[in-house]
Amino acid sequence: MKVLEISGGRTLEGTIRISGSKNSSVALIPAAILADSEVTICNVPEITDTDALAEILDYLGAKVKRASESIVIDPTTIINKEIPEEMSKKLRASYYFMAVLLAKFGHVEMYFPGGCSIGARPIDQTLKGFEALGAVVKEEENRYIIDAKNLVGAHVYLDMPSVGATINTMLVAVKAKGETVIENAAKEPEIVNVATFLNNMGAKITGAGTSEIRIRGVETLEGCYTEVIPDRIETGTYIIAGALVGKELKIDNIIPEHVEMLILKMKEMGVQVEVGPDYVTVSKTDSLKPVRIKTQGYPGFATDLQQPVTVLLTQCEGESILEETVYENRFKNVPYLNEMGSNIEIVGKKIKVHGKTDLKGTQVEATDLRAGACLVLAGLLAEGTTTITNIGPVLRGYEHIVEKLTEIGAKIEIKEV
Ligand code: EPU
Repeated sequence: MKVLEISGGRTLEGTIRISGSKNSSVALIPAAILADSEVTICNVPEITDTDALAEILDYLGAKVKRASESIVIDPTTIINKEIPEEMSKKLRASYYFMAVLLAKFGHVEMYFPGGCSIGARPIDQTLKGFEALGAVVKEEENRYIIDAKNLVGAHVYLDMPSVGATINTMLVAVKAKGETVIENAAKEPEIVNVATFLNNMGAKITGAGTSEIRIRGVETLEGCYTEVIPDRIETGTYIIAGALVGKELKIDNIIPEHVEMLILKMKEMGVQVEVGPDYVTVSKTDSLKPVRIKTQGYPGFATDLQQPVTVLLTQCEGESILEETVYENRFKNVPYLNEMGSNIEIVGKKIKVHGKTDLKGTQVEATDLRAGACLVLAGLLAEGTTTITNIGPVLRGYEHIVEKLTEIGAKIEIKEV
């Protein structure tokens, strides 16, 4: 078994360069299938989630060339066949293949997607989008069989601004006849990244990044070049690391606007943060003030940063309240933080963090990706050694996490035990 071992209490200094966004890459890679010629995607992080998608592409018969930061995909040889369950179960984003295969071939058979166990995570809104465009969806045990002889543009109102449903509906609508309007669309930067990619291929999408997206379907999409935006969750995670144990730690190659809510909350706490055009510099600050945080869709406070920011709340003097509104089960990190010395109560959808508390290293488990990130941050701060088990979820989302942290002064390693 592999574990992450961290000796805490070290000061982090220097520069950490942020990688391409996981949640953009995992949509851009399947989207490449829609093109009728070769596509190049740059700034793709080397994480297990992108490896899993490249493996699916390979299985479907696409030609895939991977260099360190880019992926070149020739989708012309692709075959429409069912992706084995063990491949689709590896990650949530496998269901983007459902959309692109449906758009390209008018028929798809797929197993339910996987992903972190942080709540129910239904995909009814994706299916609603497909059906609105003319698809017929049959659910058989743990798989979907979807047919659409003619995809026709339609008005789709999403019941909640779901990232996945917005992307999936866009992926199908680009090839449908006529105009599709997605109302109550999610506004996350990853959606803009996907829309830009599709437009580079020749799609006609306007309004991505707002709650109303309009898509005029086209007959063909051509190969193109695109770049993945910086990962705003990795950015936020390392900014929090800087606030916990940093000394003028520079988080570089970022889009500061994408983490504005985090920066504003940190300023409210009293953290010293300096914001540059494509970087942030942050240092550990004593006597932080408690705050209230509520997770929301973009541009609200990202749910993916709530578990990491909890560590910072343990360092604020007094009671902070954090409310999770997106997922039902995203506090699995809390019992482990409490074992490390924090004083956090879970009250329904909220946690009350009573600070300031010292943290001590112990053995903890990364129950999901961002819970793992939270425990890495806790380990960097804690006195003594923190051993994190079940590190797979962490490696799904953070490129070269050990190397990056080591370079700025952390003592962290992956050990076989
Ligand atoms: N929802 C439904 N029905 C649907 C779709 C969503 O009820 O058809 C609910 C979900 O259960 C959830 C909420 O709506 O409570 C938001 O779900 P959304 O569809 O927006 O999330 P997602 O597309 O499944 C992506 C990211 C998540 C991130 C969320 C929210 C990817 C691969 N995943 O998930 O990232 O938390 O958006 O920003 O892009 C992570 O990186 O750790 C992660 C979980």
